[in-house]
Parts: sequence; C-alpha cells; structure tokens
Amino acid sequence: MRGDSFARFALAHGPNIPERCAPLLDWANRRLAEGTWSFCRVQEARTGTDGIYRGWNGQRYHGLNFAAQDYLGLAQDPRVIDAARGAIDAFGLHGAGSEVNGGTTPPADELARRLAEWLGQTHCIIFPTGWAAGYAAIRGLVRKPDHVVIDRLAHNCLREGALASGASITAFDHNNVTSLRQELERIRLLDDKAAILVVVESLYSMDSDGPDLKEIVAAARDHAAYILLDCAHDLGIFGRAGTGLADEAGVLDEIDFIVGSFSKVLATTGGFMASRWRQCTLSVQAFGQSNTFSNQLGPIQAATALRTLEIVASQEGERLRVQVLATAEHFRTLLEQEGATCIGRPSALIPVLTGSEKVGREITRRLAEDGILVNFIEYPAVALGASRLRLQISPQHGALDLNSVAKRIGAELRSHRPVSEHSLTMA
Ligand SMILES: Cc1ncc(COP(=O)(O)O)c(C=O)c1O
Repeated sequence: MRGDSFARFALAHGPNIPERCAPLLDWANRRLAEGTWSFCRVQEARTGTDGIYRGWNGQRYHGLNFAAQDYLGLAQDPRVIDAARGAIDAFGLHGAGSEVNGGTTPPADELARRLAEWLGQTHCIIFPTGWAAGYAAIRGLVRKPDHVVIDRLAHNCLREGALASGASITAFDHNNVTSLRQELERIRLLDDKAAILVVVESLYSMDSDGPDLKEIVAAARDHAAYILLDCAHDLGIFGRAGTGLADEAGVLDEIDFIVGSFSKVLATTGGFMASRWRQCTLSVQAFGQSNTFSNQLGPIQAATALRTLEIVASQEGERLRVQVLATAEHFRTLLEQEGATCIGRPSALIPVLTGSEKVGREITRRLAEDGILVNFIEYPAVALGASRLRLQISPQHGALDLNSVAKRIGAELRSHRPVSEHSLTMA
C-alpha cells in the first residue's frame, strides 16, 4: 500500500540529510516524466476559470480551471484591485514587523474590527495565513495539563497546533458526536480540573462534509468544554450575510473561538481568530507564536480582504452565494449522472473519488491534457487508497459548458476501475 506514495518517504534515517532526501526527488522526477506530478507547479494565468499551469519540466497545461480557491470569484474584481492599489499608496508594500512587536497597519486593524462585528464577536486578531491562525489559536489557548479533543480528520494546522501546545490529544471519529461524547465523558471522569478544547471544522475540504454543530455545542457544554471552530471553507458561502454554517445551525454566538482563512473567499492570503474574550485573543498573541515570531499580514492583503469582505457581506455577496451553490449543485448532479462518486454535501468544492493513487494520478494527467485542470488529492492529505479529484467552483463556472466537462470526467472515470467503499476509511 505504501509502495508508490509519499508514505514511502515519511521516515528518514542516516547522517546525510541531502542523500536521504534524494529518493523523494527521484520519485517526483519519475512522475514528472510520466506526466503525473501535479504538485508545486507555476500558475501562469490570473485566477479565474481559464488556467495555465507550468510544471517543473516546463510543460504547460492550459484549460478550464477547477483548481483555484476563489469561491466567490472576487480575486480579480476591479474594486478589490483598486483597494489593494490604494493600500500601496497609503501604507507601502510591507508592514515590516511582527504584529506584537512592530504593530499592525490601519487596514489590518479595521479588518479585525469588521470581522469581529460580522461574526458577532467582540475581538479578532489577524494572521499572515489561515494555517498560522489555526495553529496559533490552539497553541496559545491550551497548555500541558489540558485536553484537546479533535476530529480525526481535522486540518493539519489544527493538529500541529494541538501537538505543539503540549496538551493531551484525543481524536474522535469524523463528525461523530457519539464518539465525541464518549471521549469527553472518559476525560471528565478522570480529570475534572483541566480545560478541554473541542476542535472541529464546519466544512472539511477533503470530503465537503461537516458535523451537526448544534450537537457538537451541546456535547461540549455538557462536559464544561470549550469549542474552537475552523470555518475556512464555509465562511462567505453559507449563513446569513455569509457568516457560515455555524450561523446556519443557529449556534454562531455559542462558538467560543472561531478561526478562518482569507484564501478561499476573501481574495488573498491571511487568517483570523475571533472570540468574545479579549484575554483569550491576547493569550494567543502572547503564546501562539505566529503573531510574535512572524511578520504581520501586509497592508495590501489586509486592504484586499477588507474590501472583499464588504462585498461578501452585502446583497451582492448574497447573489454570489446563491450562484456558486447553484452551479456546484448542478455540476455535482451532472457528474453523478456520469457515474462519478461525489462525496459530501453541496458546497463550493466537489470531491470526486478516484480511490487508488495510481488511478487518480492518471485521470488527472489525462484531464489536464484534455484541458480540464483539477487538483489531485492524495496521501498525506487523505488516507492511502482514498485519492480524489477536488473541483473548486466559483460563480463564473456557471457560464461554462459544465455538461461537456462532466461527460469528459465521467468518461475518464469509467475507463478505470470503480472506487470501492473501503477506500473511504482512513489508513
Ligand atoms: C480547515 C483549514 N484551515 C486552515 C487552512 C489554511 O488556510 P491558508 O491556506 O489560508 O493558510 C486550510 C487550507 O486550505 C483549511 O482547509
């Protein structure tokens, strides 16, 4: 199973570091030669439905782009570009210091205020990436005697933050509230003094699924635990004014710590953590590491996110949400009619199972050569043998001939063996 995957290179032994990294490069080069190395490429076109990717060997793939994360299609909006230009004129290119030591810029300060207001929280802090936000929030909130109870499939930044915090970590079954309750019960029986932080996402991007947030909140409250929710992929897409699935579930004001990313809907890099407790955001600034030991988000990115947020929270944002979800649902239906296994719920991303890595890589290559550019997801992002294509949709995709795209994807899938049910389980 581990044979032809990144798993083969996860362990490394011996004193010579470059030498022991070499087999990984050899493997990548072999895949490059056969056209199945779709990672670390150069994106040559502007973000949009038309994509040009250049691989390491200079080979260009030009086609319909389903590989960009720009769920409301605002990354090329002229109003947003103007805001970014205005920030350069007013504040220059760079914040030139960490947030804690150097201070933040006015667009970042305003962005933090607006995000807190939007989410019904009182405080918000900003990070250079969404990854840094998830990592730092957990790292800064819990300590060694505490417990983190985390969904088994939670994003890498959340797992790394939990590991770095020194707290005891317990994983519960994906989206399974019964499993969460069992773990909380067990921990509280043994330890009624320490803090417990329940960590979940509202929409998992590899599966396009999420938990019953009302039930998650109830389970946490019954065991005197706090909740950290990462809403990277649903914020801007669901809920009133785009405030996400927690709003849709009616529990937004019961989430203790909300983290998210700007990179899916807010047209730039960056992330945030919002809460109703200033002492908790301060603790993350002090102990989360990334606000102290990494430079702040730049003024261009802050102004970009701020202007985009205005659009996202407006009536226009409402129309874009309706469009992207209608387009994604329509595309899922077309893909399923062609025999594709689209997992999860309708959202701005569509995971299409391919199962074995070998099959998925080959399908991705053939689609790219045929002018359909998709992300290929394989271990370590998902379990071995559970590879998938991830199609990312924006409102602009609605103008494409999705029927013929679905037919071409369906034909590729049918020419390979069917995906078996067991491939869905984590290795
Ligand atoms: C749940 C979740 N959190 C955080 C991140 C990281 O966000 P960013 O790419 O902005 O660093 C991602 C990235 O895709 C994610 O899926």
